[in-house]
Amino acid sequence: MRAEWRNATFAAGLLAAAVAQTFAQSASLAADKKPHPGKDIYERRCALCHGPDGSPQESVAKMLQAEIPHLGSPRVQSKSDAEIQKVVKDGAGKMKAMKGIADMDITNIIAFMRTFKKP
Ligand code: HEC
Repeated sequence: MRAEWRNATFAAGLLAAAVAQTFAQSASLAADKKPHPGKDIYERRCALCHGPDGSPQESVAKMLQAEIPHLGSPRVQSKSDAEIQKVVKDGAGKMKAMKGIADMDITNIIAFMRTFKKP
């Protein structure tokens, strides 16, 4: 093999390694930045009343003449996943049952709600 060819092959190898590394890095960055799987559905179905971070929306509470608890509060967080699922499916007090949310989505919503837990 002539020297130039060897160099070219070597350079191509280096380039491929660099590209592979950059790709691996951006892939792991993307994984870090991926939103929580329950965030989107929570924002669409729950945030109107419970705020993007679980904090009660006072104007809605007034309209419904209800006391909306903070979803990160110890009282709400002490509920089991099954109990929260029941709240979503059957309603609780002045919260109406939320129809048409797939079980998998409810599971994701509950997991997202757990991130509201206050220390
Ligand atoms: C239209 C407004 C509204 C929407 C939308 C809504 N909620 Fe509620 N939620 C309420 C109100 C009002 C209460 C307080 C009910 C009461 O105690 O009378 C409540 C209470 C709760 C509670 C506490 C129940 C308890 O037993 O103390 C949980 C948990 C909850 N909501 C979860 C959710 C989740 C999860 C979603 C989305 C899937 C959601 N809510 C959507 C209005 C809403």
